[in-house]
Amino acid sequence: MTAEEITERMLAGAVTTMETISTALGVHLGLYRALADGPLDARGLADKAGIHSRYAREWLEQQAACGLLTPAADAADPYARTFALPDDVRETLLDTDSLYYAGALPGLVVSLAEILPQVADAYTTGGGVPYAAYGAGARHGIGGLNRPAFRAGIADWVAALPDIEARLTGGPARVLDLGCGTGWSSIALAEAFPAAGVHGVDMDEASIAEAAEHAAEHGLADRVTFACADASEPGAPGPYDLVCTFEALHDMADPVAVLRSARDALAPGGAVLIGDEKVAEDFTAPGDLLERLNYGFSVLHCLPATRAEGTAVEAGTVLRPGTVRSYAEEAGYAGFTSLPIDHDLWRFYRLDPA
Ligand SMILES: C[S@@+](CC[C@H](N)C(=O)[O-])C[C@H]1O[C@@H](n2cnc3c(N)ncnc32)[C@H](O)[C@@H]1O
Repeated sequence: MTAEEITERMLAGAVTTMETISTALGVHLGLYRALADGPLDARGLADKAGIHSRYAREWLEQQAACGLLTPAADAADPYARTFALPDDVRETLLDTDSLYYAGALPGLVVSLAEILPQVADAYTTGGGVPYAAYGAGARHGIGGLNRPAFRAGIADWVAALPDIEARLTGGPARVLDLGCGTGWSSIALAEAFPAAGVHGVDMDEASIAEAAEHAAEHGLADRVTFACADASEPGAPGPYDLVCTFEALHDMADPVAVLRSARDALAPGGAVLIGDEKVAEDFTAPGDLLERLNYGFSVLHCLPATRAEGTAVEAGTVLRPGTVRSYAEEAGYAGFTSLPIDHDLWRFYRLDPA
């Protein structure tokens, strides 16, 4: 890239970043929700959302300039111009069930910027930044973004392991969900397999507290339980028909110990299902969008959070298939299968003890 091209790229990045932050502002203040019932002018938005009308006007114009809102035909008085929320933007930012839901992403990105001083310290000292320190923005960002994929896909993912699907469908069956975060995968599994009991484990206390609330809200508290523990010593004696971990293995400081404890917890004939990032087989530069996305999360979040846990392995977000295979072999699994599951962001693996 030439100097001119790099400057253009930095400028475009700054514009996109500021648009992401102002989208986070809109989500945080409920501005998109206020617009969901119909077009509003600045004073209408200010009244409805409880913000100052001058700020409402600037935010509305900025959102229209970046293409997220549709302004009505020109009005002489800028305060009289109304702005509409297009259906696709409403779905993307407000419909938490949609597979296109991205309303939790801007807040996640902001949480990474907010914690930059602590991350910089960690880079200098070699220490870490605990997962909990990233706060609700990160926790809800990750959970909120993954929830629709779990709801829509988890039954199909398990169907890629037909023998395990048969056990879960025939029931009674038990599932252990390691690194379950705010519980959406455990809940989706319980909803997809009514004969199964699911136990979720995560070492983040706030995530586990919210996971329990989510299960209760879904009327599943009797079949979906949670515990705050390190997945390498989950304290959840088996046997389990399925042990799964979604977008979490790369976050664990000792993934081999986690896979070993998963193997020990399996019932005869049970298996482990891993879903983790769909990165390239090998390091490549420049990388594609997925590679850049995952390295972005890795330098700002996953690697510092993992180092706060301990320094056994520190995979980082960019967990390549060969690395997962080597963890599985080291943990004593005889079978490692890359599963033919179509997903935009994740790869899936099946591990069999024998
Ligand atoms: C990226 S989040 C994914 C959460 C959840 N699986 C989801 O998809 O929404 C990774 C999770 O792994 C958890 N985690 C990291 N290391 C862990 C460990 N050693 N034991 C248990 N959980 C761990 C974190 O607390 C976090 O909730």
